[in-house]
Amino acid sequence: MEKIQPPETHQETLEALKYKLEGIVPEAEIILKAEMAYEINRIKKEKDAVILGHNYMEPALYHSIPDYVGDSLGLSKISAETTASRIVFCGVEFMAETAKILSPDKMVLLPASKAGCSLAESITGEDVRKLKEQYPGVPVITYVNTYAEVKAETDICCTSSNAAKIVNQLDSDTVICLPDEFLAKNIAKETGKNVVFPGHSNGNGELQNSMIVWDGKCEVHDKFSLQDVENVRKQFPDALILAHPECPPEVVEASDYSGSTTAMVNYVQQSDADRYMLFTECSMGDNIAAENKEKEMVKMCSVRCPHMNQITLEDTLECLKKDQYQIHIDETIRKKAKASLDRMLEMS
Ligand code: 13P
Ligand code: SF4
Repeated sequence: MEKIQPPETHQETLEALKYKLEGIVPEAEIILKAEMAYEINRIKKEKDAVILGHNYMEPALYHSIPDYVGDSLGLSKISAETTASRIVFCGVEFMAETAKILSPDKMVLLPASKAGCSLAESITGEDVRKLKEQYPGVPVITYVNTYAEVKAETDICCTSSNAAKIVNQLDSDTVICLPDEFLAKNIAKETGKNVVFPGHSNGNGELQNSMIVWDGKCEVHDKFSLQDVENVRKQFPDALILAHPECPPEVVEASDYSGSTTAMVNYVQQSDADRYMLFTECSMGDNIAAENKEKEMVKMCSVRCPHMNQITLEDTLECLKKDQYQIHIDETIRKKAKASLDRMLEMS
């Protein structure tokens, strides 16, 4: 992942934002945000901070202050390797926690006091312990969209970009895959496994070649339906349809491509179609449009993640000035959680 060079002066910041965001963000907003972005980049240097921006950040923030932008896996790798003394995570809380797990000696800051995630909130460490009692010896693979206490009970973590690869490398043909029901079903399909809910078998009373799944959902991707895909196909027959693997399986099935947020960014960049519809969080469509002026992002079915939306330029400026909000994790939990993340990084 390449480091982004921030503009040096206020004027350069404004010009760079205008160039990228003209027609996407109103000019008055660009002027206001350029001032904040310039100030953030100045303090960032003074305080030896690195800013990581998830692909779902709002366009003005995404295009002005991060040193690195990317998906969960890419940003995890950067947080494990950075030499900066502060990591400011412009993403949600589980992402900042992942950075702290991997880089315990750094100060890790989240610009909002709360930026949750419906998937992370769908499961607890106690839930995982009960599943392990119910299915002794079955490996637990957990999506990074979970909190540290859940990662601590896990054998290996995964992200949307490496999940199938990791499942295929495990010794056991039966796995527990938590907590996203749709991601698990999509991986089960890709890896040829039967889906089983806890307490049920696959119909033959056996668990061979099965994926035991949880019923967590992403509140954004859960809103997309097969009907939405069909409506887009009808109205924009030339549009290429991309869907994040957190979407319901029938949406992924009906799409032209499915992949992590960065995989989708790269797919649009490398493809030569004129029109695209993204079934994912809507800011990402704007961010891709800003980088690919000649391509059109269809704006049907727009859904903003309310948790990603908590992260603003205003709060990031306060975060840097006041060193808030610092992420703290109990050391015993952190060490156990790190083992599951290290296994993922080794295998992906
Ligand atoms: P990615 O790992 O694809 O960036 O996904 C993170 C996420 O929260 C998607 O909703
Ligand atoms: Fe969580 Fe969904 Fe928001 Fe991603 S888009 S952070 S999975 S609620």
